[in-house]
Amino acid sequence: MIILGIESSCDETAAAVVRNGTEILSSIIASQIDTHCKYGGVVPELASRMHLEAIGPVVNEAVEKAGITLEDIDAVAATRGPGLIGALLVGFSFAKAFAWARKLPLAGVNHLEAHIYSLALMEKPPGFPFIALVVSGGHTNIYHVTSPHTFELMGQTRDDAAGEAFDKVSKMLDLGYPGGPVIEALAKTTDTDLIKFPRSMLEKNSFDFSFSGLKSSVARYIHNHKIITKEDKAQIAASFQAAVIDVLSCKLLNAAKFKGCKRIGISGGVSANQTFAALLSQKAAKEGIQVFYPPICLCGDNAAMIAARGFTMIKQGQTCDLDHDVFSRTRI
Ligand code: KG4
Ligand code: ZN
Repeated sequence: MIILGIESSCDETAAAVVRNGTEILSSIIASQIDTHCKYGGVVPELASRMHLEAIGPVVNEAVEKAGITLEDIDAVAATRGPGLIGALLVGFSFAKAFAWARKLPLAGVNHLEAHIYSLALMEKPPGFPFIALVVSGGHTNIYHVTSPHTFELMGQTRDDAAGEAFDKVSKMLDLGYPGGPVIEALAKTTDTDLIKFPRSMLEKNSFDFSFSGLKSSVARYIHNHKIITKEDKAQIAASFQAAVIDVLSCKLLNAAKFKGCKRIGISGGVSANQTFAALLSQKAAKEGIQVFYPPICLCGDNAAMIAARGFTMIKQGQTCDLDHDVFSRTRI
């Protein structure tokens, strides 16, 4: 079955063609980052307008690159939520119209489930059950995934998402948006993380996160050290990153032990952080736990993961009608 996947929940307009839920024939991502970075974050109104301009060309390019024709498409999958309403509406309405015109089934995909499905696109995906982390600019959620359709939410952030913390610290250091990649690169220029920023673990046995205290602590540090040199910035970046990945790794390993799970899969923009993946893998190996992370091109928002999740939904008959709407917030 050939599925056209469409993603437009935030600042990437993406389309992909995926065969049988696992074989990526094409994956096109039009990023709006250059526009939003001038404002230090995503401007929702601009995002919707840019999705509108990009969606047609991006879908055409995905079909062309896949070496197929429109007639070869068997089903459509598009992100239904969570995300920015105006942005979601562009991709989901496009998908509805496309599916309706061609009498194809349409899957309305949950963006968080789709991030977990980016692991299904790996050469060797994790078997069930596994502990999944979705860590991005909007979410830091831990799930116990026991089947292709069963995602038990074990913990989530009570304030900022981990990616959001990277973006805010980057802004404090005048390093631009998005913060994750620049903070990671800057942190690599120093081999020490001397500043002891707080690691908020919350209550014993809690799998929730809180990153606002860490963010305030970095802000205070910058405020108290009026002159910040390039070396200071590297030190702050490395120490902040070390605090975030320490908490993420610790909670993930605790969750895996709690459920007696031997597999952990990470997904979402922050999982592109190689320092995080390396540290987690190293700690997990000591406990006999295997860590799975998708290739970098599938860590951030993309439409291949939407098609992968859509495939399993369509196989189950979980399809959408024309009167189904997008949603901004959800839990899975
Ligand atoms: O999944 P994603 O592309 O979009 C959302 O659904 O939010 O994630 C974007 C987030 C941003 O906050 C960005 O700073 C962060 O992922 N990010 C990273 C890295 N690359 C992207 N965070 C840490 N290290 C990275 N290498
Ligand atoms: Zn995302």
